[in-house]
Amino acid sequence: MSYNDRFIRACRKEQVDRLPAWYMRQAGRYDPDYRKIKENYSLLEICRQPELAAEVSLMPVKKLGVDAAILYSDIMNPVASIGIDFDIVANVGPVIANPIRSAADVANLKPIDVEGDLSHVLETIRILDRELDVPLITFAGAPFTIASYLIEGRPSKSYIRTKTLMYSEPAIWFQLMDKLGDMVIAYLRAHVKAGGKAFQVFDSWVGALSPQDFKTYVLPTIERIFSELSDLKEPKIYFPGVASGELLPTLSSVKADVIGLDWRVPIKEGRRRLGGSYAVQGNLDPYVLTAPMDVIKSYAKAIIDEGIQEPGFVFNLGHGLFPEASLDKLRELTEYVHAYSEEAIAG
Ligand code: CP3
Repeated sequence: MSYNDRFIRACRKEQVDRLPAWYMRQAGRYDPDYRKIKENYSLLEICRQPELAAEVSLMPVKKLGVDAAILYSDIMNPVASIGIDFDIVANVGPVIANPIRSAADVANLKPIDVEGDLSHVLETIRILDRELDVPLITFAGAPFTIASYLIEGRPSKSYIRTKTLMYSEPAIWFQLMDKLGDMVIAYLRAHVKAGGKAFQVFDSWVGALSPQDFKTYVLPTIERIFSELSDLKEPKIYFPGVASGELLPTLSSVKADVIGLDWRVPIKEGRRRLGGSYAVQGNLDPYVLTAPMDVIKSYAKAIIDEGIQEPGFVFNLGHGLFPEASLDKLRELTEYVHAYSEEAIAG
């Protein structure tokens, strides 16, 4: 089969004959074959076996017909290399043995050694680069989202310790943002060198901040990450996570190619808030996937109708897939996105 570059073309706002689709968290627990692998290995054990991690990344490409693969990994993986001891606990998420709370904790963080500590991630990327006939998206967590785990020590709803540090100890906060920014830049650059064809920076929880606090405490680091990587030709995606609609007007200085939208902002309105220069990606509410297929298709149609009004649209969800999602519905949704958008683009 020939290489399918629709995802890359859409990221660059080039013409496509039909819309590309992929799904955040497409490699995961809704797939019974993945759950079978998980009976024997933890997430981190899978990541340390490049052949197996590559197999998991390939599953949704084969089963769903999506136009891009995403590396099987987790946003927490690189922090092991800067001196953080963590685990991914089932049904909880990342749990940190030594949370970051003081100036000394931040000072003790080491520079990342991607080739040394994370060679298994690079090897997974190399395997996928050989095997895929669609682009491989690699990813990193954004500094705020990573910091929220490092400071809270576990998933949080209020981000109280994170915000306490941010507001009370801004010098420590910015030092932490700088170090995590350096980590993200080195990690993503190594991904591209190993064969990644695009990357996404997941800022899943930054919507917890007001636009003003986002601008003050987070945006400078996001700007730096994308500016320092702007020599790379591979498409760059920034996903400001859930409830990020109010942040969109602040993003115009970020040198990303694509901005991910959550489902609270219609595509047309998202584009308006962003000011027109970015491609956009999104934004079906993942929980719409619990509805009957005709309802799912009507939501997808509304997104596609707005998405194709301008070049530069990638069909996705507004946040990651949940474990109860159905493989059959996802396959049918992907087929629908392809067929309906092709018809609509042809006019
Ligand atoms: O398919 C893909 O998207 C690639 C794999 C991927 C994982 N995590 C694997 C994973 C990706 C892109 C991530 C990113 C990630 N990890 C984010 C950003 C995306 C988002 O959802 O906002 C965040 C916030 C994390 C941190 C994290 N890791 C959480 C909150 C959890 C869920 C805990 C739970 O069990 O409900 C994880 C665990 C995790 N990462 C799973 C997977 C497939 C599920 C548990 C497992 O299979 O072991």
